[in-house]
Amino acid sequence: MSSEIRITPSILNADLDNLNHEIERISKVSDYLHLDVMDDVFVPNFTFDFSRASEIIKSSPLAVDAHLMVSNVDSIAVQYAEAGAASVTVHVEAVSNIRSTLKNIRSQGSRAAIALKPATDVSAYSEFIDEVDMFLIMTVEPGFGGQKFMTEMMEKVRRTRSMIGARPIWLQVDGGISLETIEIAREAGADTFVAGSAVFNSDDPAEMVNLLRAKASSTKLEP
Ligand code: DX5
Ligand code: ZN
Repeated sequence: MSSEIRITPSILNADLDNLNHEIERISKVSDYLHLDVMDDVFVPNFTFDFSRASEIIKSSPLAVDAHLMVSNVDSIAVQYAEAGAASVTVHVEAVSNIRSTLKNIRSQGSRAAIALKPATDVSAYSEFIDEVDMFLIMTVEPGFGGQKFMTEMMEKVRRTRSMIGARPIWLQVDGGISLETIEIAREAGADTFVAGSAVFNSDDPAEMVNLLRAKASSTKLEP
């Protein structure tokens, strides 16, 4: 497994009225900005419409990792890639034609990723492995920040890691990642970590990103 760790802060719980400032606080120490897009249909919460999201993508000093929690995502996903998101993640529960959607994302030069809600099994998606640049295993029910990390998802993380094998595919976890939980997720095989409230509720968000990275980097991996 690659020993590279990526920390991708989510701005869901940041001060959205001062977004530029919030992003600046973490931009020098983070790998990507994780942008949670919710449509109040796929999940019971709304965050950004496409026009606001593209403004953020264009103005962000950090490359954007767009996590699309929206229904009928096939055509929307490619718009995010065209708008310049470095990575675009679609939920398998929301997409109709996975293969062509992933292909369309990649054709714009973006990384293509699939996300799985807690109840969704990963084995059915091994057939798309050559079309995928990242798997996102949700460690909470998508919709809100600040929820409790679901340790029981670690079995799925392990299974995904073994499916990935030697391929250079990233394995992201999202939900409840903090200094208390990041080691558990790293041990199970995750290498890319979303952290929302842990980072933005901290007095020094940049320092928290550094601490999370240090903790993940020093974690001993399962054999
Ligand atoms: C949940 C979102 C997450 C979440 C992360 O639907 O995808 O990105 O807001 O926030 P924390 O780290 O607070 O769980
Ligand atoms: Zn997310």
